[in-house]
Amino acid sequence: MKITVIIPTYNEEENIKILVPLLEKKFQLFPDYTFKLLFVDGNSKDGSVEVIKELIKEYKNIELIVEQEKSGLGGAYIKGYKYSIEKLNSDYVVEMDADLQHNPDDFPKLIEKVKEDYDLVIGSRYVKGGSVPKEWALYRKLISYFGSLFARIVLRIFKVKDFTSGFRLTKVRGVLDQIDFSKIKSKGFAYKMDMLVRIYDMKSRIVEVPIAFGLRDRGTSKMEQKNFQDSLKVVLEFAKERNKNFIKFIMVGFGGLFVDATLFNIISLTLEPYYSAIFSGFVAMLFTFLLNNFFSFRERQKNKTSELLVFFLAYALSSLVPIIARGYIIYLFVYEFGDTLIIRNVAFFIGIFLGLIWNYTVYSKIIWKKNV
Ligand code: GDD
Ligand code: MN
Repeated sequence: MKITVIIPTYNEEENIKILVPLLEKKFQLFPDYTFKLLFVDGNSKDGSVEVIKELIKEYKNIELIVEQEKSGLGGAYIKGYKYSIEKLNSDYVVEMDADLQHNPDDFPKLIEKVKEDYDLVIGSRYVKGGSVPKEWALYRKLISYFGSLFARIVLRIFKVKDFTSGFRLTKVRGVLDQIDFSKIKSKGFAYKMDMLVRIYDMKSRIVEVPIAFGLRDRGTSKMEQKNFQDSLKVVLEFAKERNKNFIKFIMVGFGGLFVDATLFNIISLTLEPYYSAIFSGFVAMLFTFLLNNFFSFRERQKNKTSELLVFFLAYALSSLVPIIARGYIIYLFVYEFGDTLIIRNVAFFIGIFLGLIWNYTVYSKIIWKKNV
């Protein structure tokens, strides 16, 4: 079993000197595995490269890539992944920072999981036993925690608690070697989230082990303001891709409302409004059904006439549920809180909101369910 620990460095000379002997000691705890230490240096301006070259003389398992030009954390890791897969033939890759904020004492916890055959092991600050530095100011703890939480909610990935952790172990065969690195949305720190989403979507086996994220004692952090914007961009891009049916469904809903209202007003010119509403409602329903079929859920569309008929009937019937429920919600609210304009509308919009959830669930899980 070959395990490569990739460590990106940029101006970390003092940290590297301390980290390497500590890690090499941990390697000895697993005599059955072969460990490599791969540094990817972003062309440091301090003596990092020289320090690593000295260490290479002392330890036989260290390799070094020096980038011509610093290409960001994600850029450095992509080079490291490729080298680990193609040149070193690694079975697993560990990602770890050089600055000792990732404690070498936590390293064995990740390696222990190899025998359980996980695809991804995340050193996590937000599972029981994990932590961030208690010296961190409250705002920093909150940003870190809620940043992770935001990403999890928007991307609907709840089983991973620490979304941005930089201390990880990934299996190569079937996982890392399935990723098209040219598609990764960020060359910066946000590549971590990108990789996590991709690996999660492979339906892989993921586990988190607790780590104590430390303070940085030497050197300076390379985290910049632009990394936050970049992370937000990555999360929102994935959100867009993952929720694309939902966004289209909402658009179709607005289209339906427009058709309904327009038709209602036109027909009312000649017909009783009571009949116009039934007619326009029916046409709008047919309209949204067809658009949902040929647009929102295009990739799962029905084409046979018989299928279209049956599913339209199901569609119409399921639409009755939120309409009736809404009437009942309004009735309850008015009865409970009095009949005012605000109460009526609050109840109305609660009804609309619940209706959206109902409809989208029925459409995506039943009518246009994914064929697997
Ligand atoms: N080659 C290269 N190129 N290395 C880099 C670059 C780069 O552009 N930017 C940073 N590094 C190296 C640093 O030298 C260090 O070893 C490691 O990457 C992490 O950089 P830090 O500057 O210490 O990052 P951090 O402590 O703010 O962020 C860490 O925690 C985050 C979660 O809070 C990292 O682990 C992040 O990945 C993680 O998201
Ligand atoms: Mn750090």
